[in-house]
Amino acid sequence: MTEPAPALFPHPVAGEKLAALASQIQQQSILQLFADDADRAETFSSSAAGWQLDYSRQQLTHEIRDALLELATESGLAQAREALFNGAIVNTTEHRAALHTLLRASASTPRLQSDWQQIQDCRQRLAQWVDKVHSGSHCGHDGAPISDVVNLGIGGSDLGPRMVTEALREFHNGAVKVHFCANIDPAELADTLAPLDPSTTLFIICSKTFRTEETLHNAQSAKRWLLASGAGEDAVASHFLAVSSNLEAVEKFGIPTDNILPIWDWVGGRYSLWSAAGCSIAFAIGNAAFDELLAGAEQMDEHFYNAPMADNLPVILSLLEIWAVNFFNASNHAVIPYQHRLRRLPAFLQQLSMESNGKRCNLLGQTIDYATAPVVWGEEGSNGQHSFHQLLHQGTVRCPVDFILPMRAANGADAEAHQRLVANCLAQGQALLVGRDRQACQQALLERGFDEARAAELAPHLVVPGNKPSSTLSCQQLTPATLGALIALYEHKTFCSGHIWQINSFDQWGVELGKELGTTIYQAMTEPESYNGDASTGALLERWRHEH
Ligand code: F6P
Repeated sequence: MTEPAPALFPHPVAGEKLAALASQIQQQSILQLFADDADRAETFSSSAAGWQLDYSRQQLTHEIRDALLELATESGLAQAREALFNGAIVNTTEHRAALHTLLRASASTPRLQSDWQQIQDCRQRLAQWVDKVHSGSHCGHDGAPISDVVNLGIGGSDLGPRMVTEALREFHNGAVKVHFCANIDPAELADTLAPLDPSTTLFIICSKTFRTEETLHNAQSAKRWLLASGAGEDAVASHFLAVSSNLEAVEKFGIPTDNILPIWDWVGGRYSLWSAAGCSIAFAIGNAAFDELLAGAEQMDEHFYNAPMADNLPVILSLLEIWAVNFFNASNHAVIPYQHRLRRLPAFLQQLSMESNGKRCNLLGQTIDYATAPVVWGEEGSNGQHSFHQLLHQGTVRCPVDFILPMRAANGADAEAHQRLVANCLAQGQALLVGRDRQACQQALLERGFDEARAAELAPHLVVPGNKPSSTLSCQQLTPATLGALIALYEHKTFCSGHIWQINSFDQWGVELGKELGTTIYQAMTEPESYNGDASTGALLERWRHEH
């Protein structure tokens, strides 16, 4: 069978215009764009829900921004956004809506009223659980108050809740300590449980499908740990909650119906922290702060839904991504939060962006010939400066950067330290933009006492070319509301890019093959005759048999 030709970039009119503009702008430095336009920092900035996006350090002009907005129009982005908010089947391969915006909506349209009502009922039950545990009216099996809550989940059932819980440490109300365990590597569960007392620990088994190997294995181990402490089977009701859409499997595990918080098909794992899947967050920060997180996200939803495209933060972030990926061949994107509390943000965004948009097939099932999601990575600033920033400044990879910058400290203990942190963030963006040429490097070496010959020899190694694009997303302070808005911003950015690429941002078929093969290999470990796979894996299996 002959393979059909791959599908081309789907928006030819704006696409062609942008390709021409991309080759022209190569001749112009970003610094020159600042010299030509005194208001550039202002005209290439927009704000919403407590965040300011400054994208003036991107390699684009007014004309390019207009052409990118034409691309959004040509792609039908406004209609796609309408469909998303209205519960249309946007996840076509699984025939599902993606209603994460409804999870944080304070009201609903009549069309989505019954889903919204289910959400409110669930939120009420979740809030009651949090209150019962915090107040001590729900205790462990022997009457001791719950001191620790452990979320067992992986992927979307871990990354979002874990990132938010860590980011909002200043808002923890101290009623319980919240822990996370995702990996099937027994070391993680052992480390998590080591300081805990089974009689005062509450587990949340967070798994939409209740079929995920890592989570189910850890859940069984946790149950054994509880029973080994002398508790009877009936203690499970005091020590286990579940968040799942697979009620039958949860009940089979032994968790009573009252302890199950629902999640629905139309909540994707990586979009689920707003649902009961985020109950670990509520256990850490309390119900009121959890409501604020949702309210912040709703503010960003309203902005995304209502703001003109030219001022629309998620739209702009997405168009910058398309500009970099499809017109400058950027295969990387770094996100560098200058706040220790946000150190898990890059890991969260990796799943959000790469599981959503790491696709090679369009909505019609055609293989595509254009690039989709870049590799997203990052690390908290200023740590990265002493590591991979070398590549950002002098390497050969094009890697636009998002700097995330709360202007005030999360923890105000040392104002000078935070001021230094902010200075470092601004300096990194400046170095990427301005760079340092050979002459300046040579001069700096002379000033440091090197002789002429050595300065000339060393100078090329010091050259920083500059002209590297970055954006800065700043807020006054990280709070539940601003964090909610930040996450919603990136969710919608991901949606816009997926739409422009004409891919399904809400499925993840690519992760299935590895899971299936893992099951067969696990079986072949104890039944070698069952293995009929490739020779390379066969050899590694053999090695395991000899060495384990
Ligand atoms: O394997 C990928 C995945 O399905 C993610 O999309 C999801 O977030 C994660 O696994 C966990 O799934 P579940 O909540 O069903 O355990």
